Parts: sequence; structure tokens; C-alpha cells
Amino acid sequence: MDRLRIKGGNKLKGKIYISGAKNAALPLICASLLTDEAVTLTNMPLLSDIRSMNALLEQLGTKIESHDEIVDGNACKSYTYHTPKFESLVAPYDYVRKMRASYYVLGPLLARQGYVELSLPGGCAIGARPMDIHLSALEQMGANIEIKNGYVIAKVDGRLKGAHLVFKIASVGATCNVLMAAVLAEGETIIENAAREPEIGDLAKMLNSMGAKISGIDTSVLKVEGVERLHGTTHKIIADRIEAGSYAVAAAITRGCIELVNAQAETLQTPIKLLRQTGVNVEEREHSIVVDAEGCELVGQDLMTDYYPGFPTDLQAQFLTLMLTARGASMVTETIFENRFMHVPELLRMGANINVHGHASAIVRGVDKLYGAPVMATDLRASFALVLAGLVAEGETIVNRIYHLDRGYEKLEEKLRGVGADIVRESDKEEE
Ligand code: UD1
Repeated sequence: MDRLRIKGGNKLKGKIYISGAKNAALPLICASLLTDEAVTLTNMPLLSDIRSMNALLEQLGTKIESHDEIVDGNACKSYTYHTPKFESLVAPYDYVRKMRASYYVLGPLLARQGYVELSLPGGCAIGARPMDIHLSALEQMGANIEIKNGYVIAKVDGRLKGAHLVFKIASVGATCNVLMAAVLAEGETIIENAAREPEIGDLAKMLNSMGAKISGIDTSVLKVEGVERLHGTTHKIIADRIEAGSYAVAAAITRGCIELVNAQAETLQTPIKLLRQTGVNVEEREHSIVVDAEGCELVGQDLMTDYYPGFPTDLQAQFLTLMLTARGASMVTETIFENRFMHVPELLRMGANINVHGHASAIVRGVDKLYGAPVMATDLRASFALVLAGLVAEGETIVNRIYHLDRGYEKLEEKLRGVGADIVRESDKEEE
């Protein structure tokens, strides 16, 4: 198992290239299953979640080729996915257990092949995360769905039928899954209370470039006129707003200055506003964001997570950690997931002053100092919060279980070292 060893206290300064968005890439890869032609995705982040999704698609029969490329000055990969025919219509337990987003094969396989078996994802560290909205929508579109031996078995005779759907929650996963099903359905589908996260807009735009007819993109009402077939395309994945927001906090918490190259400021308006209220200077440029906290004294601010364009739950742990270095108290409220303060007990071990109330809110009080300690996290974003605390803590912090970080942060140590952090990865082979 690998771990990160961080010596705190360095001011981070320089440029960080922001990668393509993991949460856009995962549904986009699955959207390639909707056509028998090749789909090329450029600006692909190199992450373990992407490797897991690729392995799942290969098991279904997809041929995948990768190419090195430079996108906007950043070395990355593009992948071509080609599924002329399927060898399996099953997403097995071993894949889904590693990565929940495996459930994105549900909509495409059902729409193109009329059959899919998907191991039902369980809950995870941050919450129960059911799939009822995905399944009920597909049922309303004519699918017959059974749950058997831990698997969802979904079938439909002929094509799915368009339907008028009203989601009880603006779920990101359900919006993507149902959108991918609706593009090949017969007739019109309307999704009311659709999620509006930029990754969904990216998916809808790629589907349209494959011949789909989706309107209302980036709004909460999506309309889809079903078509009989889709064709191949080439698509550039949008920048990862959560990665950009995470490094913005790295600049702010170390009172440094980082230019986030390729970050898209329009997708980060709420976190940028909060950073400014805290006292950080943020400059929005056409192809980057500059976060400058040099010489700034930060003042604590309240924050509440919400659906996009509200404050992202995936940045809650990082901003909560930033508030530990600000003057005064901040109230952090989590409204999306029921168990998303798992980073708090670890931060307390580093000298934080945080009181969690129930599952929903935490009062964070600024402290003079954090102290390095061995810590471990239970999910991806909480792990990054511990890295942030390590960057400002006095002494050495060891972050264990960094396989969480490898799921979602490309070249993390390299990027942080490039702006002056003292951080190294260590392997401990005998632990495995
Ligand atoms: C996606 C993101 C995740 C982010 C989350 C919220 C990916 C791969 N993951 O997760 O990083 O934190 O959006 O922005 O893109 N819910 C139901 N029933 C359902 C579906 C969802 O009750 O059928 C609930 C969930 O338990 C949760 C809330 O709705 O409380 C939002 O979940 P959802 O938007 O679906 O999140 P994910 O797509 O799983």
C-alpha cells in the first residue's frame, strides 16, 4: 500500500495544469457503447477509476486504443473506444464493487441491446447512495427490472419508449444514465428536475455530436427526441472543476499563489465567490484561474453544499480544512450525502477545532496551528483534505490509504511538488 509523506509549511507558487474531469469521462466512456462506430475521447485523465471503467468495457467487448497527446500544453492521453458487437451484457460484482460509476453501462446497454445485468452497487463511506431514481425512470420507459442475487436485471422488448419523467432528486448519476437511455428510445423523453452539473452538459454535447437530439442542455429540463442510431465522434473532455477547486484551496491554505491552467472559471462560480469572501484574490482568465492568497489574512465563512450551481459536496472537505486556517468560526453544512464528515476525526488528530452536529453540520474554528500526524481517509475528497492539512501542518504528515486519491487526482505529488510542496510517495510492499 502506498502512502504520502508531507512536510508542511511551504508556500505553494507556480502553475498547475488541470486535467480532464473524471466525473465527465466516466459517463462519456459508457456513452461510446451506444454506437457500433469508434468514439475518441481526448484530454482523458490518467486515473485508476478510468482504468477500472476501461477494464469493464473490455470485458463487455469494447476494443480500446490509447494515444499520447498534448492538449492545451498538458501531456495526456486520448482513448478510442469501439464496440461493433458485445461479448457480454453483464457488469459483474468485482468491477462495480471497485467503482460505483460502473452503473453508467445500464442506460447504454439497455438502449442498444435491450438487456443488461448490473451488480447493484451498495452504499459507500459517504452514504447509502441508492439507485431507485435510475431504475424507476427506466421502468417508466418500458424496461422490465428485477433485482436478483444482488444484480439488477433489466430488459426491454424492442426499443425503450420516451416518457415524461420528474426526478424527486436532481441526481447526477440518474440524469446521465437516463439521458443515455433516452437518446435511442422511441419518441420524446422529458426529464424534469434533471441535474445541471457541467459534466452532464458535456455528456449531452457529445451525444448530440453522435447524432442525438437533446435540447435544454445545462438547464433542469432536458428534452430528448429519440433517434434510431448514433454514430462515432471525437470529443474533448471538460476540465475537472473539482481538481481545480482542490488546488485553489492548496494555494489559499498555504497563502501562496497558483495559476490553475485550463481550469474553467464558469464551472466554479460558487467556490470562487466563497474564496473571495474569505479574503483570497481570485482572477478569472480566459483559460485559467489565478488564486493568490499571499499576505492575506483569511476570515471564516459559512458554506452549505447544494446541487449545481450551488457549492459542490465534492469540495466540502477541502474548504472545511481551509476554514481551520481562517479567523473566527465557520459553519459547514452538508446537504447531499448523509455521512460526509469522515475527515473530521482525522483533522482533530492534527489539532483542528471542529464540532460536528448530527450528520449535517460542523462548526469549524480557526486554530493557530495544525500539527503533522499519521492519518488515513475513507474517501477520495476527504483524502485530499488531509493532504491540504499536511501542507500547512507543523512537522510531518503521513497520509495512508492513498488508493482513494489515485482514483481521482492525476499525478498528485508531481503537481504539488511542481509548485513547491515537500511531498513524496512511499510504497510498503510487505503490507500487501
Ligand atoms: C455524482 C458524483 C459525485 C458527487 C455527486 C453529487 C460521479 C461519478 N460522481 O455522484 O462525485 O459527489 O454526484 O454531486 O459523477 N440518490 C437517490 N436515489 C438515486 C440516486 C441518487 O436517493 O437513485 C441520492 C443520493 O443518495 C445522494 C443524492 O441523491 O444523496 C445525490 O446523488 P447523485 O447526484 O446521484 O450522486 P452520484 O451520481 O452518485
